[in-house]
Amino acid sequence: MRVKWFSLSIITFAFVLSAGASVASGEAVEDLYRFHCAQCHGLKGMGDGPNATREMPVSPRDHTSAVEMNKLTDADIINAITEGGPATSKSSLMPPYGKTLSKAEISSLKDYLRKLCNCKGK
Ligand code: HEC
Repeated sequence: MRVKWFSLSIITFAFVLSAGASVASGEAVEDLYRFHCAQCHGLKGMGDGPNATREMPVSPRDHTSAVEMNKLTDADIINAITEGGPATSKSSLMPPYGKTLSKAEISSLKDYLRKLCNCKGK
C-alpha cells in the first residue's frame, strides 16, 4: 500500500513538472500571442490582425520589422506590454497587460517578439 502511494506521488510530481515546463516552451508563448495579441498584431506579428482596420488611427506595430523593433529596448517592449501604448508614448490602442499576464509571460512574449523581428534592439 505504501509503495503504491509513493509511485502515485511520483506520477503527480512528474505531471506537475511537465506542466511547468510547457509554460516555458515556444508552443505556449505562441498560444499566448495568438490569444492576446494576434487580433491586432496579426497571427504572424505583421500588424495585420482582423482588428487592425483602416478606421484604426494608428496601425499596430509590425513585430517582424527589424527597423521598427530595433528602436525599442527590451525594457521598452516589456513596458509597452505591461502598461500599454501610452507608457512608451504610443497609442492607447495598445492595451496594458500588466493585470492579465504574469511578469514571466510578458518576458517570454518579449523574447518571442525578438524572434519575430530577428533583432536585438538598442
Ligand atoms: C487592440 C489592439 C491591440 C492588441 C490586442 C495588442 N496590441 Fe500591441 N499595439 C497596438 C497598436 C495600435 C500599437 C501601435 C501604437 C503606436 O505605434 O502608437 C501597438 C504597439 C505595440 C508595441 C510597440 C510599442 C512601441 O513602443 O513601439 C508592442 C511591443 C506591442 N504592441 C506588443 C503587443 C503584445 C505582446 C500584445 C499581446 C499581449 C499586444 N501588443 C496586443 C494594438 C494592439
